[in-house]
Amino acid sequence: MKPYVYVTRKLPENIIQTLETFANVGMWESEEEPVPRRILIKEAEKADALLTMLSDKIDAEIFQVSKQLKVVANLAVGFDNIDIEQATKQGITICNTPDVLTDTTADLAFSLMLMVGRRLFESAELVKNGEWKSWSPLFMAGTDVHHKTLGIVGMGSIGEALAKRAMGFDMRILYHNRHRKIEIEHKLGVEYRTFDELVTESDYVVCLTPLTEETKGMFTKAVFQRMKKSAFFINVARGAIVVEEDLLQALREGEIAGAGLDVFQTEPIDSNHPLLQLKNVVALPHIGSASIETRTAMMELCCENIEAVLNNRKPIAVVNEELKSR
Ligand code: DGY
Repeated sequence: MKPYVYVTRKLPENIIQTLETFANVGMWESEEEPVPRRILIKEAEKADALLTMLSDKIDAEIFQVSKQLKVVANLAVGFDNIDIEQATKQGITICNTPDVLTDTTADLAFSLMLMVGRRLFESAELVKNGEWKSWSPLFMAGTDVHHKTLGIVGMGSIGEALAKRAMGFDMRILYHNRHRKIEIEHKLGVEYRTFDELVTESDYVVCLTPLTEETKGMFTKAVFQRMKKSAFFINVARGAIVVEEDLLQALREGEIAGAGLDVFQTEPIDSNHPLLQLKNVVALPHIGSASIETRTAMMELCCENIEAVLNNRKPIAVVNEELKSR
């Protein structure tokens, strides 16, 4: 009998057909609404594999009710929505989608730098609202991106791709990472800084670090106070890395010049959220990897990972190292 794969959000027909070549497939049929918890639990009980979204909470309860779950393939590079420890304890492989989304996510991070620095969103809105009255010397004047200092927090492959883009803009590039990356320093001419040094020296601080116990709430009031008043904060990683209240206060009190945010503590963010009322905030709906090409590659990678595990082969992208040698 074919194994059973449950997909927690409506995916394109061709992706489902790929899964159907080796499995029976069940799917939550909505593109907009996440799968309700009780249905997720019921499906997890009988599934051999789950193809999940970053918005699904795959916690100990899900793993404990599962009777034959072998693999969870998360449609994201981040996996902070999954209880890795419990999965590993139960011998369940967790897969993610690294590499295929690197350039697309770096493009978005750089776009946010341009958007906040050059006031692109504000300017475009103003034109559409019929508020463009005349040309004048400092009208909608923003801040340059070229020749400024970029501080990358989290120098993984997306950080490296962002640094390459910044090189084209003649930026000075600083980075902070848990482990220093000498090879990348030589290859790209980026300079290592402590976290404190980086936030103090940078004109654009870009958060790309994964959400872990260590990075949760890493950007606090004290950090924003250390940043230049002319600096911008960009977050394309996870909302919980930032103390949102502190960011709001820093923006309101002019501790920093603006923020470009693709991620939030609660997603979707409430449209009445005070952050969204600020002119110097550009907010996007968690679209870091959202190009058709990249999302398709991510979905295909999920299928390959699931197929590999169900056939006792090593998947392309495993998160829980302990199971890698199976
Ligand atoms: C991920 O894959 O973790 C990103 O947040 C998607 O944009």
